[in-house]
Amino acid sequence: MSLNPYEIAKDFPILSRTIRDGKKLVYLDSGATSQKPNVVIEAESNFYRMHNAAAHRGAHQLAEEATDALENARAIVAEFLNAEVDEVVFTKSATESLNLISYAMGNAEPGNRFHLKAGDSIVVSEMEHHANLIPWQQLAARTGATLKWFEVTAEGRLDLSSIDSMIDATTKVVALTHQSNVLGTINPLTEIVKRAHNVGAVVVLDACQSVPHMKVDVKSLGIDFLAFSGHKTVGPTGVGIFWGRAELLKDLPPFLTGGSMIENVTMTSATWAGAPRKFEAGVPNMAQAVGLGAAFTYLNKVGMENIHAHEVSLTALLLNEIQDIPEVKIVGPLDMNLRGGTVSFTVGEIHPHDLGQYLDSQGIAVRTGHHCAWPLTRKLGVPATTRASLYLYNTPEEIHALVSGIRDAQKYFG
Ligand code: ALA
Repeated sequence: MSLNPYEIAKDFPILSRTIRDGKKLVYLDSGATSQKPNVVIEAESNFYRMHNAAAHRGAHQLAEEATDALENARAIVAEFLNAEVDEVVFTKSATESLNLISYAMGNAEPGNRFHLKAGDSIVVSEMEHHANLIPWQQLAARTGATLKWFEVTAEGRLDLSSIDSMIDATTKVVALTHQSNVLGTINPLTEIVKRAHNVGAVVVLDACQSVPHMKVDVKSLGIDFLAFSGHKTVGPTGVGIFWGRAELLKDLPPFLTGGSMIENVTMTSATWAGAPRKFEAGVPNMAQAVGLGAAFTYLNKVGMENIHAHEVSLTALLLNEIQDIPEVKIVGPLDMNLRGGTVSFTVGEIHPHDLGQYLDSQGIAVRTGHHCAWPLTRKLGVPATTRASLYLYNTPEEIHALVSGIRDAQKYFG
């Protein structure tokens, strides 16, 4: 069954509004945040309207309903990822999830499998966005471990030729993006996961740009930890997911401490609850979690295979058409092999911010700049790019609109 983006778009109320003096909105910025279908908006507001109370606290009916709603959302997320329910931790964002694991490792005492010290290494790549780079820089600085990184080839792929020296006996963590938010590159994980596990390292996958767009099965990927945000996957803002394998979560120290994450407390000490509660201090973001559950139910109904196939066909169309425009240079792989629907490019001497503003004047929303991946744009020798990022509600007509918009911008800027 294929997906009809024109029908899908009707589920997203914002897509029927006009902008900039009555122009039809062409939203090509889902890599920054996706739009929300009515079912998600309803689920979140219905929680506040009908079931709001503090989950896991209180014995009254509303508290029970709030707890059930939160735990039902957790079960939906677990099923979506092919994970165990107690392995799914609600955070406020992917950034918080990645800070959770890096701070938690920094809290590990000597003797704990996650303890890092001088002589250990942490491996990332040049294509990480800041959320999967800076927390590891900070962990290295706090523990004395060394930060190492895979380079990116001119084509925008990970340079794995150095894998044996990059991931070696000193490596404790390999933290990589699944799909680059700038290049669209999907990283091949099998070899990396195998090498990391051979040397006793854990693999942390930043799945912000993959979970919304393709089937991500944590068991078949063989990874150890995963992070992503709800708002890029048609869910609400203010909710992210941190997933870890159960036996690893047992040994990982907590990040935030406070209510709910404890087993016993005295005036001078505390012991921790098991996962996921150990990592969910304070009253949870229940309404947002419920919204995320509704988001995954919606995506499941459309079918992740259909979403992926739709994006592959739109991306191929965009790559094909955009390359015919003189002076357009795509930053990232030109072929569809291991590539998602994020296309970054430059257009001759037109500054991306000027191009973005021109496209906006035509109703077309794209992102411009370094996309929170400054080291990558520096490495690629471009100060900034224009980025179109596609999703299930985008149509071939919108691809044509972008391509015409770029051609018109070239005329406008001479
Ligand atoms: N949210 C950032 C983006 O737009 C990283 O890709």
